[in-house]
Amino acid sequence: MQKITCSAPGKIYLFGEHAVVYGESAICCAVDLRTQVQACLSDTVQISSVLGDTGIDHDRYPYVSSVVEKMSEITDIKGIKLCIKSDIPVGSGLGSSAAVTIATIQALNLLFECGLGAEDIATLGHSIEKKIQGVASSTDTYVSTMGGVVMVPLKKKLHIIDCGIVIGNTGKFSSTRQLVSNVAQLKKNYPKIIDPILSTIGRISLTGEKMVAKKEYESIGVLMNINQGLLDAIGVSSPELADLIYAARNAGAYSAKITGAGGGGCMVALTPLSEAEQVASAITRVGGKAIITKVTEHGVRVE
Ligand code: PMV
Repeated sequence: MQKITCSAPGKIYLFGEHAVVYGESAICCAVDLRTQVQACLSDTVQISSVLGDTGIDHDRYPYVSSVVEKMSEITDIKGIKLCIKSDIPVGSGLGSSAAVTIATIQALNLLFECGLGAEDIATLGHSIEKKIQGVASSTDTYVSTMGGVVMVPLKKKLHIIDCGIVIGNTGKFSSTRQLVSNVAQLKKNYPKIIDPILSTIGRISLTGEKMVAKKEYESIGVLMNINQGLLDAIGVSSPELADLIYAARNAGAYSAKITGAGGGGCMVALTPLSEAEQVASAITRVGGKAIITKVTEHGVRVE
């Protein structure tokens, strides 16, 4: 085999971000926004995307460069040409770095016949994210590898949900590391107040699991909106996120909340399928960039 293309999805959180850092449960869904990596045998290492063409380059392509180096420890990679295309906005909490990492690992795994299974790919992807980001939960890489709806930290697969998913991007950069550290500080200063909030978020995920199984979107929505209130209470919302969230709710969404670290980045709305366009327009009107998508069962795959 000379050439292969693999893709991996991004993700949203239905419930549980931040609380999951303290061992509470969260529910994540892989969404149908994918990063594609085409790998062709070559004499040198070449990486290309809209970010430009280069060789191993830890500044421009930290994840892909690290994957090539790591996979070179497993197999003999003399050269490889990697072409990356993505519909996942970068650095906005949708798991773009996990998707490019996982798609690249699988492309090299198949091209060089390394024999890595899904669990190995997720574990290797997580170790690469951790090395680059300092701290990273295994959630993004796991969900991107396996697809579907996943309860973490148990890594339990739940039933797929098939309502509308509308993502609203504030376009404002947010640092996951900074927000996680802000919550840690708040927790340290006010443990008696913050600890119960985090454990309530965990209980929302546990209660939500049953509603996901029954596809009770209105009830899932009620819980997501409560979760949003608690995320606001721990200081990770922002005026821009709040604008998009209320616009989505007023336009007929079941629910709308932050997805990921908050502070900027993205919110997610669950909608009846018939209302997705309307919710997307409302998000656009208040200055967000809207993406209509759906939950996908497909984790990393060959294209
Ligand atoms: O914004 P993201 O996709 O990096 O998600 C961060 C989720 C947190 O719970 C805030 C941190 C984590 O590592 O779980």
